[in-house]
Amino acid sequence: MSRDITFTFNGNLLTLTVEDHWTLLHLIREELGYTGTKEGCGSGECGACTVIVDGAAVNSCLYLAAEINGRSLVTIEGLAAADGTLHPIQRAFVDHGGIQCGFCSPGMIMSAKALLDENSHAAEPEILEAIAGNLCRCTGYVQIIESIKAVSGGEPEGPRVVAWRGDDPHPRS
Ligand code: FES
Ligand code: FES
Repeated sequence: MSRDITFTFNGNLLTLTVEDHWTLLHLIREELGYTGTKEGCGSGECGACTVIVDGAAVNSCLYLAAEINGRSLVTIEGLAAADGTLHPIQRAFVDHGGIQCGFCSPGMIMSAKALLDENSHAAEPEILEAIAGNLCRCTGYVQIIESIKAVSGGEPEGPRVVAWRGDDPHPRS
């Protein structure tokens, strides 16, 4: 069976007919031709297919296309400005070595964007939680985390020890 759906795709209202068995990933890549969203495992394990639906990061391989009806969908293609200027998160991934082969990058960046849209000063624990479902085989995660922290400026709240005087029982913050 098929049905007509209407949704916002990277800021543009779109109406089209989808088959009930299509995944959102299939709709994005095969029907709409936007291949920035990657297919890795196809079973919700790798996060390569992450997109943002109504502000939340979702695995598009597990999401039925028909369920996007009435919602807002953002893919990696929706991040850069119209003149090609990269989104600050994309820029940070480039500048901080968060991209090597690049296969995981769109999913990582969309997970990071969903987090930072909700909490623009996310600290490392929150960043780790946000990308827990995104696998990378290349970077070892350090550069990816640094990339996201470069945008959030996120550090744990509270005083940090920056100096210690031997005769002072309390560390200076
Ligand atoms: Fe969707 Fe791996 S392709 S989680
Ligand atoms: Fe290659 Fe992450 S950069 S899988």
